[in-house]
Amino acid sequence: MTTAKRFLSVFRGEAVDRPPFWYMRQAGRYLPEYRELRRTEPDFLAFCYCPELTVEAALQPIRRFGMDAAIVFSDILVLCDAVGASVQFVEDRGPVLTPIRTRDAIDALRLDDIDDALSPVCRSISVLRERLPEDCALIGFAGSPWTLAVYMVEGQGGTQAPAARRWAYADPAAFGRLIELLTEAAIRFLDNQIRAGAEVVQLFDSWAGLLPEDQFQAWVIEPTARIVDELHRRWPQVPIIGFPRGAGALYEPFVMGTGVDGVSLDPTVPLGWAVSALQERCVVQGNLDNERLVAGTDLEATAGHILDVLAPGGMVFNLGHGILPATPPAHVAQLSAYLRSWSMT
Ligand code: CP3
Repeated sequence: MTTAKRFLSVFRGEAVDRPPFWYMRQAGRYLPEYRELRRTEPDFLAFCYCPELTVEAALQPIRRFGMDAAIVFSDILVLCDAVGASVQFVEDRGPVLTPIRTRDAIDALRLDDIDDALSPVCRSISVLRERLPEDCALIGFAGSPWTLAVYMVEGQGGTQAPAARRWAYADPAAFGRLIELLTEAAIRFLDNQIRAGAEVVQLFDSWAGLLPEDQFQAWVIEPTARIVDELHRRWPQVPIIGFPRGAGALYEPFVMGTGVDGVSLDPTVPLGWAVSALQERCVVQGNLDNERLVAGTDLEATAGHILDVLAPGGMVFNLGHGILPATPPAHVAQLSAYLRSWSMT
């Protein structure tokens, strides 16, 4: 069995010899060869729009660790940039955007240019598909509307998103317009990525955990369901993985209400609960704590436990959130060797 088959087989409900694995943020600063490559283009957005560099960045971890899937190298915020929000990546501070707080500011955003603006990402996908080992699946991705809206309204991440949450209560029509625009943008972007060669797509909703149930329904479940419906209609064979990070008990309505084919579990989701509440409806992915991978302690015992509980019902092994820059590559090598040696029988 080839590993591309292994990754896609899991989503078709077929038996596999071992679960496929990849890691969120598997390309990036924890790798010295990435840091060296990044020095050639100090502007991170410009880096994201240069296929020559992004193809190399996406291949680096595959060469070292032999994951079953590569993810195109880009960022969720390229979609904000493409609709006309100003995005800057500031060293040691992360992304900074000019906050969007008025209806006029929303009306100034444009969908017309996104195909052109994001064509380098799709170009990277088609080159990657040629260069990747045939047995390695290729993942495309986008930020989910709620999480992109948080960055656009707050002008940054890493907060409790007070302005976005307040605006959503005070003027749901205006806020809903922003969500609608981002939903439309995500559909077009992911459609283009699949056309270019992405075989699986993941939606990152990194700030889904900030919302109460009714708001989660309106700004996470409903837009995600629209994206999933539209992509399933156009590309019925392409699995869609949702990642509503921090959603807690709302993971269950997320899976039921969106129709995703897979769901990525953050490290706080109890495994037994994931089996009984989620796994009957979709493939689960996760959820080793990324800080454990930095520490490197009990990696095999912890990964083994995740595999023992989740593998029988259909899983993709991953972390609960992205690889951190402080992660020693040797720990990633150790975990990857263990995952490759694990067997269902
Ligand atoms: O292998 C991969 O997964 C790389 C592709 C990728 C990046 N970002 C590259 C990146 C992916 C899938 C992302 C997703 C992303 N970006 C998310 C969702 C996942 C999550 O972590 O919750 C979010 C919220 C972002 C936004 C973002 N981009 C932040 C907050 C930052 C700065 C903080 C940080 O972690 O660096 C970025 C920059 C970024 N995106 C870097 C990389 C490799 C580092 C920039 C650099 O190289 O200088």
